[in-house]
Amino acid sequence: MKTIDLRSDTVTLPNQGMLEAMQTAELGDDVIDIDPTVQKLQDRVAENLGKEAAIFMPSGTMTNQIGIRIHCQPGDEILCEDGCHIYNYEQAGFAQLSGLVARPIQGKNFQLSLSDLQGKIRADNEHMARTRLLCLENTHNRGGGSILALEAIKEMTEWAKTNGLATHLDGARLYNAVVATGIAADQWAGPFDTVSVCFSKGLGAPIGSALAGSQEAIALARRYRKLFGGAMRQAGVIASAALFGLENNVDRLEADHQNAKILADSIAQVEGLVLDPEHVETNIVIFRVDLANITAADFVEALESKGVRMLAFSPQHVRAVTHLGVSTEETGAAARIIANVAALM
Ligand SMILES: Cc1ncc(COP(=O)(O)O)c(C=O)c1O
Repeated sequence: MKTIDLRSDTVTLPNQGMLEAMQTAELGDDVIDIDPTVQKLQDRVAENLGKEAAIFMPSGTMTNQIGIRIHCQPGDEILCEDGCHIYNYEQAGFAQLSGLVARPIQGKNFQLSLSDLQGKIRADNEHMARTRLLCLENTHNRGGGSILALEAIKEMTEWAKTNGLATHLDGARLYNAVVATGIAADQWAGPFDTVSVCFSKGLGAPIGSALAGSQEAIALARRYRKLFGGAMRQAGVIASAALFGLENNVDRLEADHQNAKILADSIAQVEGLVLDPEHVETNIVIFRVDLANITAADFVEALESKGVRMLAFSPQHVRAVTHLGVSTEETGAAARIIANVAALM
């Protein structure tokens, strides 16, 4: 039986249509001047997110780190939610690459609201780091793919702007929020100065992310992309896959969300497994292993031996992510295997 790989939505392989798009893409040197396919993707992303410009980069980590860099100077401080990707899973790149400090703030279920932020801007004097940027994440990876409400986002970004802070959205899975809510991408992106989106997650491309913002912000991002080693030459080869994903794989995210619900509903019935958070909104399912003397790593190892792959996300938490490489039938099979494995432990 085929292994059912639910470790991440980044494990997808390009299908025939995507490979053909890659083979036939018009190419140029995007470092000397432009690659026409990269340019087409950038224009499409900028339009889709309602921003003046966008720039293609190899990874979500790079778009986040450059998104941060263009708003800050060494010694500045960024505000972010305690469980976010930028703070936890990017090697504190903001410190290593840009000389910044982060102030992580605990939200409720990994979600910040205005009251969490109030009072967190440091006084403007020579003793203090300068609080400069607010970063939010939508959908939230560690929060189990949860969606931060647009109203809450508007309140926080308006507060940030009123207080002289720039704003950046880690929208690695923004299109999951778009499909789950029916709220268009430009509405989600509108409140932020810069927005990062990934093509290599739910959209199924092998590589690539984009950062969108004002002309000025993206011109500066282009400088930093060169500095950080992310300028790529005939990058249309991969930008074409990203374009294909954007054109063909957004609406189908709904199927991933339905599969995640199938998985979650089944896990909720299994004794010794607890959904965390309780409700699944998009394509990520996180559950706590509450079986005597069994860690998440033990549980994941037992699943692997039965042909289902997931990630141990903390000592007791397991993460499963649905994606275009896993059908509804396979999701059902994975759910049955989870229940069987738990019953035996
Ligand atoms: C929310 C979020 N932001 C950023 C990233 C980084 O993306 P990449 O792996 O392309 O660097 C990820 C990757 O999983 C993510 O989940």
